[in-house]
Amino acid sequence: MRFIIVNEVIKSLKAHRSFRSYQNKAVDEEQLNQIIQSVQASPNWVNGQQYSIIAVKDEERKKKLAELCGNQKHIEEAPVFLIFCADFYRTHLACEMEGTTINTTDDIDTLIVGVTDVGIALGTAVTAAESFGLGTVPIGGIRRNALEVIEMLGLPEYVIPVSGLCIGHPVEDTGQKPRLLKEAVYHEEVYNREQGPLLEEYNERYSRYLQERSKNNRVGTWTKVVSSFFSKRYYQGIAEMLSKQKFPGGRL
Ligand SMILES: Cc1cc2nc3c(=O)[nH]c(=O)nc-3n(C[C@H](O)[C@H](O)[C@H](O)COP(=O)(O)O)c2cc1C
Repeated sequence: MRFIIVNEVIKSLKAHRSFRSYQNKAVDEEQLNQIIQSVQASPNWVNGQQYSIIAVKDEERKKKLAELCGNQKHIEEAPVFLIFCADFYRTHLACEMEGTTINTTDDIDTLIVGVTDVGIALGTAVTAAESFGLGTVPIGGIRRNALEVIEMLGLPEYVIPVSGLCIGHPVEDTGQKPRLLKEAVYHEEVYNREQGPLLEEYNERYSRYLQERSKNNRVGTWTKVVSSFFSKRYYQGIAEMLSKQKFPGGRL
């Protein structure tokens, strides 16, 4: 007999979906505290904790951020908007305290370290929020007008905004977005390049989902959506932001 292990954590993870509308109801401060404490317990590179989270709850400031992120109304509606930043400011202070100099602009790996720590922190926050029945949506749009966001949040050098996260009590469940088959993303021993049939299969399932979903239904395929995003530069000014904040990958 084969046992299938499905515990509460797995159930919650597998039920994930983003929510883009929220009730006019605050997020309990202790729940927010637990979310942040969960993030703080998560793995991170050399325990350097290369991330910071800025919480914005002020209505006017959320409104401004919603505009800066490309008029994303859900940011205004969410009672809490968290901005996840890659953060080497504390590293810079640690270097100063130890009589040495941080050299982040030299090594592109710094960027990988910072965004990996942020990714883990963001994912952990989503899972923790969902465990309380809260709804979330990450906001990459925080990089659309990054320099203005940096100014507004008072981010020092060595800190960049990577993603926002709306958190609130969800209004409506628009259902789960289908994913690629497991075979496309999970490889045993060596990478499988023969993904064409898997993408064809997904295009079919995805276009059916897009046509049939209750909100924002439309015609399209997954390869069309993805190729439209990645065939041009999506956010402008990232190189300028990186160099201004003394990160690698900028225009030096
Ligand atoms: C780093 C990151 C940035 C994202 N940025 C946005 C965004 O700016 N606006 C938005 O509506 N959704 C955003 N999303 C949400 C994705 O579109 C969503 O997670 C994806 O389509 C899968 O849908 P699901 O979360 O409902 O399963 C972002 C997700 C991630 C992980």
